[in-house]
Amino acid sequence: MKIEFKKDNLGNVKSGLLCVFVLQGEKPPHEITPLMKGLGKDRFEGKTGQTYYTETLGNAKFAHLLVVGMGERKKFILDNLRRAAGTSVRYAKSMKEKEIIVFVPSVPKTTAIQVAQAITEGVMLAEYKFDEYKTERKDIFNLKTATILSEQDIGEGVRLGQIYANAQNYSRLLDEKPANIATPTMIAKEAQKLAKQNKLGLTIYNKKSMEKMKLGGVLAVSQGSVQAPVLLKLEYNKGKNYPLYCIVGKGITFDSGGISIKPSNGMHEMKYDKTGAINVLGIMKAVSELGLNIRVIGLAPLCENTPSGSAQKPGDVITIRNGKTVEVLNTDAEGRLILADALSLAVEEKPKAIIDMATLTGAIVVCLGRHAAGLFSNDDKLAKVIEDAGIATHERVWRLPVWPEYSEMMKSDIADLKNISEQHEAGSITAAAFLKEFVGEVPWAHLDIAGVEMVKLPHPYLEKGATCTGVRLVTNALEKMQTK
Ligand code: BES
Ligand code: MN
Ligand code: ZN
Repeated sequence: MKIEFKKDNLGNVKSGLLCVFVLQGEKPPHEITPLMKGLGKDRFEGKTGQTYYTETLGNAKFAHLLVVGMGERKKFILDNLRRAAGTSVRYAKSMKEKEIIVFVPSVPKTTAIQVAQAITEGVMLAEYKFDEYKTERKDIFNLKTATILSEQDIGEGVRLGQIYANAQNYSRLLDEKPANIATPTMIAKEAQKLAKQNKLGLTIYNKKSMEKMKLGGVLAVSQGSVQAPVLLKLEYNKGKNYPLYCIVGKGITFDSGGISIKPSNGMHEMKYDKTGAINVLGIMKAVSELGLNIRVIGLAPLCENTPSGSAQKPGDVITIRNGKTVEVLNTDAEGRLILADALSLAVEEKPKAIIDMATLTGAIVVCLGRHAAGLFSNDDKLAKVIEDAGIATHERVWRLPVWPEYSEMMKSDIADLKNISEQHEAGSITAAAFLKEFVGEVPWAHLDIAGVEMVKLPHPYLEKGATCTGVRLVTNALEKMQTK
């Protein structure tokens, strides 16, 4: 799909499906009211997601009109635009319409640029479809062009929206791939392509180099699998004199639980256990395309967690990169082990802040469901930047505490730490408390994205499957960090 913007007014639309968004109970733009004649108040009120469709039957130059409700003015949030844009794309696709024109409405407390960015994101995220493995291609239908139309200059908004949505879609395409295809080695190859295209620094560490680097966590988790582990280090603005930020992502290409094996029901969803690492790739893509005035290092440890004769066993004691020892009481609490190594490496870079993303705990799904990621931080300012980014991108977060009492729960009888607390209480917080042991004094934020990494129910702009929530969130936070 080609996306373009145009500065013009509604009266000049000449073809395709025109999409216009209207606030609840408010009047549509005067250019289209004649086309909505005879429309009783009861038929279209402008409620969120409500649609009104008509053929223009020679009364306009374009063939079809879709009006989408944006809900009440006083409850308006930017995400209503992503949703309305997504609804428009869905509608267009169901009508096999090749061309849509989305008119940028004027809405409360928002600039035309922000509106255009949100609409662009909604259009592009809704246009995404994962159909790589379908051999029957005749039912596959794609939009040809989407034009974002405004009476103001909105080019910048469309440019930003494209970068943000492209990065997220790039990650979604990779995250959706199953474990037999998206192996650590395959993902390293994808990172090579990305690094080349976006002029990023890239170092790929293999098992041998990880042994030299004493990455005891990654080595222990991966030792049961035939898939070789990989650690990716991506660098944006390498060697330049800008403030440095590190992003870290959990990359378990499949989490069977290992010897502490998971029940088989729903186990296939554990192909998404690499989302944190895949998000790192998407964020590096976005950050480089935005040309941010910061340095960013992205670290992504990648491996499989499977049982076998060589797998780590409950009770094993391992040593993490920073020298701390861990008693592995449950091999299914593996994410924190590979992150411990990666966070230790991040600290060695002396960054201004570290942000990690991980599908870390089932407990966060119990706690927040699928509408927010858990946020854990040792720094209130950093937490605030991320909370604000959550509101701007609608990839919302909810902060939970990491008090010393929780850290107490992670002390082992025979090693420095244990990887689970036998109390089985506050599972997401104790996991975060474990990670905190590896960040020292560096401002750090941990995002537990288990739960938001996929959608299971219909959503206006995210189809069922991988969402890669976190890409737009962390990119936005880094964008804000430029001025901090
Ligand atoms: N990858 C899982 C967490 C997860 C669960 C992600 C559900 C998405 C949906 C993680 O490695 C895990 O297995 N965590 C355990 C921790 C437990 C053993 C302390 C969990 O949540 O059950
Ligand atoms: Mn696990
Ligand atoms: Zn896992």
